[in-house]
Amino acid sequence: MPRPIQAIIDLAALRHNLGAVRRLAPRSPVFAVIKANAYGHGLMRAASALSAAEGFALLELDAAIGLREAGYTQRIALLEGFFGPRDLPMLVDYDLAAVVHSMDQVAMLRRLPQGARLDVLLKLNTGMNRLGLSATEFAAALDALRGDPRIAQLTLMTHFANADDELGVAWQMERLDRLAGEDTLPRSLANSAAILRYPETHAGWVRPGIMLYGCSPFPGQNAPALGLQPVMTLRSEIIAIRELEPGDAVGYGGVFRAARAMKIGVVACGYADGYPRHAPNGTPIVVEGVRTGTAGRVSMDMLCVDLTPVPHARVGSPVTLWGEGMPVEEVAQAAGTVGYELLCALAPRVPVIERAALLDA
Ligand SMILES: Cc1ncc(COP(=O)(O)O)c(C=O)c1O
Repeated sequence: MPRPIQAIIDLAALRHNLGAVRRLAPRSPVFAVIKANAYGHGLMRAASALSAAEGFALLELDAAIGLREAGYTQRIALLEGFFGPRDLPMLVDYDLAAVVHSMDQVAMLRRLPQGARLDVLLKLNTGMNRLGLSATEFAAALDALRGDPRIAQLTLMTHFANADDELGVAWQMERLDRLAGEDTLPRSLANSAAILRYPETHAGWVRPGIMLYGCSPFPGQNAPALGLQPVMTLRSEIIAIRELEPGDAVGYGGVFRAARAMKIGVVACGYADGYPRHAPNGTPIVVEGVRTGTAGRVSMDMLCVDLTPVPHARVGSPVTLWGEGMPVEEVAQAAGTVGYELLCALAPRVPVIERAALLDA
């Protein structure tokens, strides 16, 4: 018998969530963001479910090449572009679009061989202050690249820092208009939060990531309220049950202490599976369909749960760590992080199963 932990991936939910993007931004071609192994869901699996998207966006060159070799013909954008001139022939050969965010990269583009054709997304810094060209650099980059026959197409791109919070996008949209207002280049602006909240950012290519995976980008608002379906369900089982006396402590450091006689369950899931070690006592978790809380520090391979609300639980009882019936956003919030981090951190040792295969079995 294998260890009972599994991540179940619901590809129909992934397609449903792409449909939600389409309904929100019906005129926008979509770059489905599948970086970081499709946010932990499996690159090729996600790409096949999202093959109706007009493009893919990611950062890993080998993964982008893998997509081309697997036969995907849509636009594929590398979100950090290239890291040295030696990468350029590969981008040209595999027809990969490069985000160009610095004048160093603009200079490297001079080394493109004659006859080469490269698709470029020029990234403007509108206030995120991470990657992107300043206004002056943008003008200089346009001078250098416009009219160069080796640049197959140019798209103007920026990224929002606060689309998921109360600051919103207006301040960055104003800067964008100021910096590039006159320009008529096609655009790519919106991440999930902007797709969900700010239709004024939808012009051109949208770039949804987290919403495709059925997780909300907004603190305090779960995916179902946004019409999204969770794609990954992490589940396991109870592998031992323990009766505690009042005063008994649980796990490393004894950070949970029983106030009364109670039962706890030991679950085959720990931080080496991707469950957050910082999840405190009481982090929500579902046992036999009943919501309860974790008890004690998460260890490498196991965590414990309070079985008080689930007296019928036994060894072998199903446990949902997150996903269907246990929003990953709530687990993340309890652990002081975001759903993005939990999904991306799913460990390679966790077997991944597609939901359809499970239903067929
Ligand atoms: C440049 C860029 N565009 C789009 C996205 C997708 O963002 P989200 O997952 O919030 O939709 C990301 C993710 O971080 C990104 O870096």
